[in-house]
Amino acid sequence: MAHSRVLTSLIAFSLLLLLMLSGFATAEADYNDKHVPAFTHGHEKRANYGSGAPYWMSQIKRQGKVAYGANSSYILWRNVRDYGAKGDGITDDTDAINNATADGFRCGLGCDSSTTTPAIIYFPPGTYMVSAPLIMYYYTQFIGDANDLPTLKAFANFQGIGVLDSDKYLPFGFSWYTNQNNFYRQVRNLVIDITSLPKGRGACIHWQVAQATSLQNIVMNMVQGTPGDGNAQQGIFMDNGSGGWMEDLIFNGGGIGFFSGNQQFTSRNLTFNGCETAIYQNWDWIWNYKSLTINNCNIGLDMTQGGSVITTGSIVVQDGVFNNVNTGILTTFSSNSTPVAGGTLVVDNVDFTGTKNAIAYPNGTVIQPGGSVVSSFLQGRVYTAYEAQQQFGNLTCWEPTANSARIQQSVSPPPKSQSLLTASGTIYERSKPQYEGMPVASFISILDYGCKGDGVSDDTACVQAYFDSIATNQIAYIDHGAYVVTKTVQVPKNIRMVGEIWPLFMIQDIGLWSDKSNPKPAFRVGNPGDVGTVEMQDIVFETRGPAPGAIMVEWNLAGSTPGAAAMWDVHWRIGGTNGTLLQSDRCSKTPTVAHTANTACIGAFLLLHVTHSGSVYMANNWGWVADHELDLTDHNQIDIYNGRGVLIESQGPVWLYGTSFEHSMLYNYQIANAKEIYMGIIQSETAYMQDDPNALTPFPPNAAYSDPTFSNCFIATCYKTYGLRIFNSTYIFNYGAGLYSFFNNYDQGCLLTESCQENMVAVVESEGIYLYALTTKASTNQVTVDDVAIVPEAANVNGFGQTLAVFEYP
Ligand SMILES: *[C@@H]1O[C@H](CO)[C@@H](O)[C@H](O)[C@H]1NC(C)=O
Ligand SMILES: *[C@@H]1O[C@H](CO)[C@@H](O)[C@H](O)[C@H]1NC(C)=O
Ligand SMILES: *[C@@H]1O[C@H](CO)[C@@H](O)[C@H](O)[C@H]1NC(C)=O
Ligand SMILES: *[C@@H]1O[C@H](CO)[C@@H](O)[C@H](O)[C@H]1NC(C)=O
Ligand SMILES: *[C@@H]1O[C@H](CO)[C@@H](O)[C@H](O)[C@H]1NC(C)=O
Ligand SMILES: *[C@@H]1O[C@H](CO)[C@@H](O)[C@H](O)[C@H]1NC(C)=O
Ligand SMILES: *[C@@H]1O[C@H](CO)[C@@H](O)[C@H](O)[C@H]1NC(C)=O
Ligand SMILES: *[C@@H]1O[C@H](CO)[C@@H](O)[C@H](O)[C@H]1NC(C)=O
Repeated sequence: MAHSRVLTSLIAFSLLLLLMLSGFATAEADYNDKHVPAFTHGHEKRANYGSGAPYWMSQIKRQGKVAYGANSSYILWRNVRDYGAKGDGITDDTDAINNATADGFRCGLGCDSSTTTPAIIYFPPGTYMVSAPLIMYYYTQFIGDANDLPTLKAFANFQGIGVLDSDKYLPFGFSWYTNQNNFYRQVRNLVIDITSLPKGRGACIHWQVAQATSLQNIVMNMVQGTPGDGNAQQGIFMDNGSGGWMEDLIFNGGGIGFFSGNQQFTSRNLTFNGCETAIYQNWDWIWNYKSLTINNCNIGLDMTQGGSVITTGSIVVQDGVFNNVNTGILTTFSSNSTPVAGGTLVVDNVDFTGTKNAIAYPNGTVIQPGGSVVSSFLQGRVYTAYEAQQQFGNLTCWEPTANSARIQQSVSPPPKSQSLLTASGTIYERSKPQYEGMPVASFISILDYGCKGDGVSDDTACVQAYFDSIATNQIAYIDHGAYVVTKTVQVPKNIRMVGEIWPLFMIQDIGLWSDKSNPKPAFRVGNPGDVGTVEMQDIVFETRGPAPGAIMVEWNLAGSTPGAAAMWDVHWRIGGTNGTLLQSDRCSKTPTVAHTANTACIGAFLLLHVTHSGSVYMANNWGWVADHELDLTDHNQIDIYNGRGVLIESQGPVWLYGTSFEHSMLYNYQIANAKEIYMGIIQSETAYMQDDPNALTPFPPNAAYSDPTFSNCFIATCYKTYGLRIFNSTYIFNYGAGLYSFFNNYDQGCLLTESCQENMVAVVESEGIYLYALTTKASTNQVTVDDVAIVPEAANVNGFGQTLAVFEYP
């Protein structure tokens, strides 16, 4: 989450109460039409689904329960047919579906957040007609039959912001949920059709979300137009947020396929067919568009918003193909555009063979012609670091330094490691499996096995025996609940695991995890040297109380093939929610007094450790040390002291797509003694309470884990969470980073001088480092090499943070 999230939400909350009292609450903000440029006609690609097999998800026994909620009869699984939806293509199903979603006093208007009323809204095959938005409450998953995608179809008289609405708008710029606080949502396996609407209006999805959210396998059908016809339909309308992840989406027709605005986001495998503009970037800090396919569109990506005062912070376009497109990317970045780093663009291995102009200005002037593959093109500030002889008095020594420039041109591509690539040279990627073809009998329920999941009982022995009982042709089904473990659980080297709307594995210290100088793993995936297949999805790891000696997940396993060792939508959440015993009643912030770390509010030693022998594929993972309360009604800011975020010591390959680690003390991301690592967007925030106490409290640096020692520090703001530290490593490829520092002991005064901390990215004893589209916020030095500051933020000002098109240290 971003700065002042809580403050904004409190103000919003009071206003909402006022609105409720005055009866204004149901007003709907107007959908904002955007002008659309000329259009190239294209043909519609139709999805070919319908294997006929029943989808296991529709048949599995539903017995998951909320462990730490107040309503023992709460219903978590809702089939829309059970609430009266017909899906017959005639009946208006809006109310029935909205009733299915709202049932049980869930977290709606005036709530802002809650983890105790989750719901899965399931759509069997059929065509569900709707006349108004389907409101998605907080912690909701909308899931369709993966074998026969249901269609949500808007009547011609449909009114509202989108067929699906993830954040209902209110008057005066307010909404149900603070946009950057809108966590834990999914939409999967749907066709959304607005072709009955007049072409002047309509959107399929209003998606205004933050971390731990995803869209997957959705086809959006819009009216196909003719050039200049005023088609204003949109597939996704996204004003803002702090996300997030989406994959495998198809946009057919429309004026703008994707109206896009968010702080940071990773998307992969988006296909646009016959949209006038495929993507209109309203604003962002950093976005990675991985594997775009754009067919028969006039414009592929329009990033001209703001004109010469550019509102797009930075964009990576990687491994895409543009077919029959007039202008691939439209930009206004030029020698005199502002801010100096605004509109940073990284194009990496994109096929513009079928494109007239790959990159051009709105006036038609071509920057990069089409007709070929662009292996690497950069616009923005670039730094190349190297070692040079320096004279200090009568001493000569080798010191890191860098050349820098502001460029807009093709450059040589980096030497990407083969282990990270497919045969065709793209970065390897893999959709989250949905096990469509598996019969329901293959899914073995952890509750049927006998584990309690009640949030209190010690399930250690049961969870271990259960994991060991799962055959390789079976899938471990973790019913919703909270499974408390008190000893290390060994995850076998071949197991597939699916959670029911993020069940909790709770790590409770009754002795094993007390010693912060002698950490022990909690969930240990494989033994060192093991090779196998572990697939995990939709699971949350938490601690129940402090566990200062716990390594929450230790990943030793190497995948038997690329992507065979993987985690999708698996998250860490330390404190801030019911059951964690690390909530605002005992861990509220105390910035007005100098203090040390409250021992009752310590989290874990480390959230994820990918060890020397491990390799892993990760997509959409959020390691959140809670900065505020989600369940207790004060939603207050809290101080939780967690040692470290993710430590990667792998020899490769590792793929991190759309990950975020926030608010640990020593670092959020560390890559040590490692090689051959790919990272799509990474995002982090420095712990808000620092420097009261600073990064060294309560976890002293531990050499066995290559911790930073901060021995290079002389000023207080130097002792702060590293966003990213790379130590003794090579061939590290990062395509998009947003590493932010918003506070000094909760005071935002440091933002006035953009100096909340001194250093954000440290490269130590490493080489072969390629960091593209790197944005830091309020860190005086963006990058240090061997403790020498060589990238001052002042030279790289962007609209929000400070941005480099690339930092490389070959
Ligand atoms: C959180 O847990 C407490 C104690 O079990 C319960 O009283 C409270 O209602 C829960 N809060 C929510 C939002 O469910
Ligand atoms: C508890 O949940 C059930 C089913 O979801 C709902 O009908 C009921 O109103 C809820 N009760 C309370 C007190 O929230
Ligand atoms: C939705 O719920 C309301 C209130 O319980 C009820 O009056 C209405 O009939 C329901 N609509 C449908 C279509 O079931
Ligand atoms: C989110 O977008 C809406 C609509 O454009 C705007 O009114 C609001 O100020 C934005 N909020 C933030 C925090 O950027
Ligand atoms: C891309 O998404 C489509 C569905 O939208 C899917 O059929 C295809 O397999 C996906 N490709 C990759 C590489 O994930
Ligand atoms: C088009 O716009 C660019 C950027 O503003 C400018 O450099 C160029 O001279 C313009 N070309 C023409 C023909 O006006
Ligand atoms: C280098 O300079 C220092 C004083 O600045 C002096 O004490 C020292 O002897 C000099 N060393 C050499 C090798 O000239
Ligand atoms: C650097 O990493 C390599 C490879 O993992 C390892 O063998 C070596 O011991 C490490 N060096 C240090 C100083 O940690």
